Amino acid sequence: MKRILITGSSRGIGLEFVKQFLEKGSFVIASSRNPHKYEELKKLKNKFQENLNIIELDVSNEESRDKAFESISNQLDKLDLLINNAGVRFGGEKYSDALGKLHKEDFCKIFLVNSVAPLMMVEKFLPLLEKAEKPIVINISSSSGSITRRTRKGGGFSYSSSKAALNMITKALSVELSDSGIIVVSLHPGWVKTTMELTKNAPLKPSESIEGMIKVIESLKTEDTGKFIDWQGNEFPW
Ligand SMILES: NC(=O)c1ccc[n+]([C@@H]2O[C@H](COP(=O)([O-])OP(=O)(O)OC[C@H]3O[C@@H](n4cnc5c(N)ncnc54)[C@H](OP(=O)(O)O)[C@@H]3O)[C@@H](O)[C@H]2O)c1
Repeated sequence: MKRILITGSSRGIGLEFVKQFLEKGSFVIASSRNPHKYEELKKLKNKFQENLNIIELDVSNEESRDKAFESISNQLDKLDLLINNAGVRFGGEKYSDALGKLHKEDFCKIFLVNSVAPLMMVEKFLPLLEKAEKPIVINISSSSGSITRRTRKGGGFSYSSSKAALNMITKALSVELSDSGIIVVSLHPGWVKTTMELTKNAPLKPSESIEGMIKVIESLKTEDTGKFIDWQGNEFPW
């Protein structure tokens, strides 16, 4: 993988993607809402000066997406991989997505970040993706977005439906972009211990999940476009 843009790179899964791709020699654009706030990103910049560009990007904000595009297209003529990783579990009101506690504004905010923003990112960065030899868009989804697997109680209306919507966006984009050669895939990272709420008891370390997901990304073929796959390469039920 050569030129890679990762959203939500300040911590958790996004940060680990940045680390592992840098270690593999890729050129990585790590984006964060507050890049100056995060020590880990600064340390990576010291270590991988040439191959790491850190930019400010709030994926839910159009002006911020426009600025990011301008800055990246001044530096690169093509983009090989866009990882739509930025995501939120809850809105401003924590644990507000169970019946009896639903909060309309939180619900909309979660959809904006988890579903709408990834689509807007693809729309914005299409001119750079289209110039790559084997362009790939990865939407970081979740098992929570699987309608088939929805058999347990437990609320999570906003998060799970935002990831189901993201899955439809993956599928719709794969059809829409089928002539362009852009591969679009939804990836489930497994249950990974990060700074995200409700991951304290997760069995996977970010390093394990990302190692698996990078193997999957590197092995993707044109015919895989429109699939929902997990971190171990297994197809996941919609
Ligand atoms: N951890 C799991 O078990 C798990 C399982 C399934 C799916 N996922 C998905 O994996 C992705 C990463 O999750 P994580 O576990 O690494 O969560 P995390 O530790 O909470 O990190 C979330 C990242 O998203 C960024 N972000 C949130 N809103 C943003 C916005 N508007 N613009 C730009 N960046 C924004 C955060 O940036 P700030 O630092 O600026 O807040 C942070 O870097 C998410 O899409 C999540 O839904 C995670």
